Amino acid sequence: MTSLLVRDLAQIVSPAGSGAPLRGPRLRDVSVLADAYVLCEDGRISEVGPMAEVPKLGHEVAELDGRGLCAIPGLVDCHTHACFAGDRVDEFDLRSGGAGYEELHAAGGGILSTVRATRLAGADGLAAAVERHRAWMLGHGTTTFEAKSGYGLDRETELAMLSAIRDAGGVPTWLGAHAVPPEFADADAYLTFALEEVLPDAAAIAEAADVFLERGAFDVDQARRYLEACRDAGLELRLHADQFTEAGGISLAVELGARSVDHLEATGSEGAKTLAASDVTGVLLPVAALFLDRPMPPGRELVDSGASVALATDFNPGSAFCESLSVACSLACTQIGLSPAEALSACTVNAAHVLRRADRVGRIAPGYDADLVLLDAPDWRYFAYHLGTDHVAAVVQAGKPVQS
Ligand code: NIG
Ligand code: FE
Repeated sequence: MTSLLVRDLAQIVSPAGSGAPLRGPRLRDVSVLADAYVLCEDGRISEVGPMAEVPKLGHEVAELDGRGLCAIPGLVDCHTHACFAGDRVDEFDLRSGGAGYEELHAAGGGILSTVRATRLAGADGLAAAVERHRAWMLGHGTTTFEAKSGYGLDRETELAMLSAIRDAGGVPTWLGAHAVPPEFADADAYLTFALEEVLPDAAAIAEAADVFLERGAFDVDQARRYLEACRDAGLELRLHADQFTEAGGISLAVELGARSVDHLEATGSEGAKTLAASDVTGVLLPVAALFLDRPMPPGRELVDSGASVALATDFNPGSAFCESLSVACSLACTQIGLSPAEALSACTVNAAHVLRRADRVGRIAPGYDADLVLLDAPDWRYFAYHLGTDHVAAVVQAGKPVQS
């Protein structure tokens, strides 16, 4: 048996209770245990308690000194595009001078420029890219990450992306409907290819499918066609919707029983009400809103009206070149009006719910995976409070220290 005792922690902080998703006032209910320990055995948490009750353990148990550190659960980033080649630094420069994101996309840049670079990378290049980005995320405390394909848009590259994500330990999502690649006349022709030629193999690797429902990408009928076929192939459903315009994404997500609808920068109060009354989780991506100078999603309204809400980075080279959930939490607090506790639950338990892993990750409690982030800070809320500094001193993954 491999055991690790993390002892003398200043605080152990975890979303309280059990079950997921946490809605309404339950989202801000975190437990804080002072002067405490966590015992990890065989990759799982076996005990959590105050130091006054620490069990006597033999020499075979490794110890980690937690003095001055606060433990929060290993973070769950449920929305990233971490498999990409190249960069968009030139586009970033152009946008800083006033060029629009949608305008660049319409001119064949944006997402399509990353598609060109990603198609050239080859399977080894893609594996190296995901591995590099996984390490960046881990350094910020992300121990569970989802990543989407969607920068291949041909059979070989899409499948290579999904395999690279899976092999790096990520949760793969087939974003087969991200953009229409230039070799197809229109979105319908591309979808026919994607559903006939890519879906059967993509469904064997991916856990979910995703679509970019937006003007200039896929409309609501095209999104329905794509998602229904993916659902029939056994995939969970997710949508990029209401990023620039409200185009029926929330209603479609509810109609199809999607796992999540993500972005929501353009969502109005009708959409927020529809989402709150459903089982679909709204994923807030404040970094993308900031990066593209869009309004923030109505996260406060969603939480107050009882919606299931998660928080993620949207890490990608174009609209959110940021892999830090600390930054996302900070923006959730300062720009959306969530409390640090709500932000933490949104990127742990509720994000795990989106990925169907809420029984395994997202809490520091017996039976959960032994994934911990140790913060060198006098109070765990520094994780959100200190903008641009996450205070991550060490990360424990599956009961092993992996980063310090
Ligand atoms: O979530 N909006 C669509 N897709 C990504 C951006 C991808 C890109 O710009 O490369 C997003 O923002
Ligand atoms: Fe995205």
